[in-house]
Amino acid sequence: MRVIQVENYEKMSKLAAKIISSQIILNPKIKIGLATGSTPVGLYEELIKLYKEKEISFSEVLTFNLDEYYPLKNSHKSSYHVFMEENLFKHVDIKISNTHIPNGEAENPFEEALRYEKAIEAVGGIDLQLLGIGINGHIGFNEPSDYFEKETHLVDLSKATLNSNAKYFDDRESMPTKAISVGIGTIMKSKKILLLASGTSKSEIVERMIYGKVSPKVPASILQFHNDITVILDKEAGKGLK
Ligand code: F6R
Repeated sequence: MRVIQVENYEKMSKLAAKIISSQIILNPKIKIGLATGSTPVGLYEELIKLYKEKEISFSEVLTFNLDEYYPLKNSHKSSYHVFMEENLFKHVDIKISNTHIPNGEAENPFEEALRYEKAIEAVGGIDLQLLGIGINGHIGFNEPSDYFEKETHLVDLSKATLNSNAKYFDDRESMPTKAISVGIGTIMKSKKILLLASGTSKSEIVERMIYGKVSPKVPASILQFHNDITVILDKEAGKGLK
């Protein structure tokens, strides 16, 4: 694990944008796994700037998002479909047909999970996977469990995740309690991984991810076994490390 500690959220976002843009320059047809949530918003802003300055183009880039709530209309304002559209896709030259997000409206979530896994496989897997981390150690929506889920699957969101993400929904009743998430195996097969963490609330779990026992109770701990992972932490998220 390559761990880089920077001063603040802005520096984390700028550095992550440099890494991702350099990979796009090296391989314009790169397949990028994308994350949502509050952590990558600044990174997406930086990527939009680089696109506007004509430093990078997304015209041939393929993207696969990690997850989507289930069941949820793709047009719902808190869906990850809308999140991606608002925070990245509508600002750059990406072809919407080249973007992929699990379908929260699929009639059969199990079939949808299988279809999504196959779609990733069909393009030869992910070249660069972007990750955030939940305060319980989840990556994607792979929640703490007794075993690592290998492939894309339907997941019951944990209490911790429901509590953290309730702020994105008008009320708890309208918040889905499940999600479709790529699996730990899918993530681990990515050629490169870039994980970002910011803020005090992440410091304890970041320490366990890096130094703790590898266990499905802390899903992110498995990343210790990946051979090309870069972790960028701001000062607060990295305060438990020496
Ligand atoms: C989002 C995702 C999640 C988030 C994690 C952290 O697509 O897969 O694992 O990365 O919940 O969320 P934030 O960044 O909001 O703290």
